[in-house]
Amino acid sequence: MTAHLTSPDGTPASRFAFGTMQFGGRADKVASAAMYNACRQAGLNHFDTAWVYTDGQSEEILGDLIKEERDRLIIASKVGYSGGAGAANLQAQFDTSRKRLKLDCIDILYLHRFDAETPLQQILEWFAARKEAGEIRYLGLSNFAAWQVMKAQMLGVQFGLTADILQPMYSLVKRQAEVEILPMCTDQGIAIAPYSPLGGGLLTGKYAAGDGQGRLSEDERYNSRYGQDWMRQAAADLARLAQDHQVHPATLAVAWAAAHPANPMPIISARNAEQLAPSLAALEFDMDAELYAEISGLSPRPAPATDRLEEQE
Ligand SMILES: NC(=O)c1ccc[n+]([C@@H]2O[C@H](COP(=O)([O-])OP(=O)(O)OC[C@H]3O[C@@H](n4cnc5c(N)ncnc54)[C@H](OP(=O)(O)O)[C@@H]3O)[C@@H](O)[C@H]2O)c1
Repeated sequence: MTAHLTSPDGTPASRFAFGTMQFGGRADKVASAAMYNACRQAGLNHFDTAWVYTDGQSEEILGDLIKEERDRLIIASKVGYSGGAGAANLQAQFDTSRKRLKLDCIDILYLHRFDAETPLQQILEWFAARKEAGEIRYLGLSNFAAWQVMKAQMLGVQFGLTADILQPMYSLVKRQAEVEILPMCTDQGIAIAPYSPLGGGLLTGKYAAGDGQGRLSEDERYNSRYGQDWMRQAAADLARLAQDHQVHPATLAVAWAAAHPANPMPIISARNAEQLAPSLAALEFDMDAELYAEISGLSPRPAPATDRLEEQE
């Protein structure tokens, strides 16, 4: 059974979340507001940010946009990407995030990445205290391996704390989560909000002709993350399939990520409302089993954790 997250007024989490990593960066305040409004009109109530995004602008802008309807929303932020997961750093970033968001309580607080230098027990003790004080409602973990999540589940028992939601990378060209993360979440009743369902823009098809402009041509980190030839090929093949179905490749990519049996809630994003439209359209797209299998066949399926390839169904 997957965990059911709700807003403070009891509204269940929407099928997709929206990520505000571009707010205050590639999206100015006007473009950010237009995307926020488009999401609300489409029924999204779950918004994702982080202490580390755009020098705080992402949280500031989101904080301004949500003021009038805070209780109808699920707001997620993340701490501990930089500076480690020691309590002092987590507390300082959390306090800053709350100030920027203008919130006493952040619904979902993620540890942005695993920190091998800080005992996990101490980290969980800090999160448990925030939950106890009503300053967060859900514990989130991002970029964790499955064994790290299960270690947290085990150590959390003493604080009555379990992971409520995970945020892994997941798309047609980043499928590692299928091996252990997604089945583990189903088993543990943990909700899943996967990020980068478009592979940072690769799966829109805009790089297929070799002259596409965007994050992958502007940001070396993303270019190397999505630079392998087979990934480019999968994106080109998806674009061709999308043309056959007379739909935008982004719609197929997001709908595919959402269609995994573990029921993930992809975090969609864009730099403006026009770009966002095909990702939002995935909410209405009917992905039948045949098309799901066809898209799945466009990229290599990761090997099972047991390495017994001959027994993969
Ligand atoms: N936990 C973590 O470590 C982590 C890491 C990354 C992201 N996230 C979260 O997940 C959210 C989504 O991640 P993401 O931005 O990487 O998602 P994504 O959906 O893979 O990529 C979105 C990007 O693709 C491009 N794009 C989108 N629609 C397009 C269209 N119709 N035509 C052309 N290009 C289009 C835009 O970039 P360009 O226009 O610049 O090409 C846009 O910013 C973030 O906002 C953040 O909240 C979390």
